[in-house]
Amino acid sequence: MKIERKQSVVLVPYPFQGHLTPMLQLGSILHSQGFSVTIAHPEYNTPKYSNHPQFVFHSMDDGLKGIEISLPSLENIYDLNENCKAPLRNYLVKMMKEEGDQLACIVYDNAMIFVDDVATQLRLPSIVLHTSSAAYLHSMITIFQQPEKYFPFEDSQLLDPLPELHPLRFKDVPIPAFNNTVAEAVLDFFRAISDIGSSVATIWNTMQDMENSILLRLQEHYKVPFFPIGPFHKMAPMASSTSILQEDNSCIKWLDRQAPNSVLYVSLGSQMRIDDKELTETAWGLANSDQPFLWVILPGSVSGFQCAEALPDGFEKIVGERGRIVKWAPQKQVLAHPAVAGFFTHCGWNSTLESILEEVPLICRPFVADQPVTARYLSQIYKVGFELEVIERTVIEKTVRKLMLSEEGKDVKKRVVDMKQNIVAGMQIDGTSHKNLNDLVDFISALPS
Ligand code: UDX
Repeated sequence: MKIERKQSVVLVPYPFQGHLTPMLQLGSILHSQGFSVTIAHPEYNTPKYSNHPQFVFHSMDDGLKGIEISLPSLENIYDLNENCKAPLRNYLVKMMKEEGDQLACIVYDNAMIFVDDVATQLRLPSIVLHTSSAAYLHSMITIFQQPEKYFPFEDSQLLDPLPELHPLRFKDVPIPAFNNTVAEAVLDFFRAISDIGSSVATIWNTMQDMENSILLRLQEHYKVPFFPIGPFHKMAPMASSTSILQEDNSCIKWLDRQAPNSVLYVSLGSQMRIDDKELTETAWGLANSDQPFLWVILPGSVSGFQCAEALPDGFEKIVGERGRIVKWAPQKQVLAHPAVAGFFTHCGWNSTLESILEEVPLICRPFVADQPVTARYLSQIYKVGFELEVIERTVIEKTVRKLMLSEEGKDVKKRVVDMKQNIVAGMQIDGTSHKNLNDLVDFISALPS
């Protein structure tokens, strides 16, 4: 006898590229497993509906009135959370009336803190999505247990190990610190996004085989089922773009003209900002390395400048000879291109997974939050990349050459190939991500009304 299962889920993304992408990918994964998927999203950074005809979309008035908040403050995030509360609640009430007990649960990005309250009021089960690594969350909850052990610290401690958090150092602390100290409001916010409230499970864009021991420790702490079913971008049967910005596909034609395994791809994701000094050092580091490069310089990403006009005099000639600059690239296609040999990255979690799954070793230039944690794991534990400790042209030049031309670079490449193969094994029928996904489907289908 066929068992009746619940058919419908609502997903609530946090509206920034690095979070929207994995939520849409999760939607595709769940849709491919037979669920109907509704994306209830804030107006800000509305996803392109036409790219995802398989979903129902519901736009929530976020009260932000379209103001540009590519780097949101705590106030912006709390406003977003507060303003979406009533729209989500009203929508769910209507949906629950229409769908009856077909609606199984609501899945929300852990930065959309308010969702758990709304779900609890409506007696709807909620599940948290973590879009970054388990190592990142583990480092945060370890720090919350005894913040005084970590803050404040001295400049002289920057390279000292963070207690109980190998391989992190004080300079890698994943909670933003100003003058080596942390504001109580910042700690409160990070505590809030680490708290799963009354959610009944957590879903992860990571792999059990890669982060098993940390996932086990976290599960002991949270005491709910964990479903690591990554890497989402390969588990999702979705070819359509999840990009908010227009991708410049002309760079693929440029890559077609480059020698195999010769190009360094440079991108710092969708939110990071650098100053003109860093832009200049990076430009001359790339130029002096003598390697071809494809560089994404997002408009507004260099403080005080609109776009690439901050590039130093004389650099244009180098670009003409062996470089290409674009405002936004089709990154997954770029990383999959045979000409690409390395990725100079800020170590956002999506970029990291996309790079490893295309066997592209990394140069790590992390900024905040999960990025320093990921950079340390990539360079010290998995050894698939080199971390840039100093943003200075000679260091950049040397690191690029080391990655692209040296024996050490070849070892790093071998390890990234092995790492990719292990991850792919987890996606096969008897692999952990595949099995965890089956378990997740059963879990959601059996949730009580
Ligand atoms: C943010 C945080 O900064 C990151 O640390 C966290 O892990 C997720 O949220 P972001 O900085 O945008 O994300 O980085 P990342 O996670 O790497 O996501 C960027 C996404 O944009 C990737 O999926 C990448 O493929 C895409 N991208 C980037 C493009 O499509 N084109 C580009 O030119 C650059």
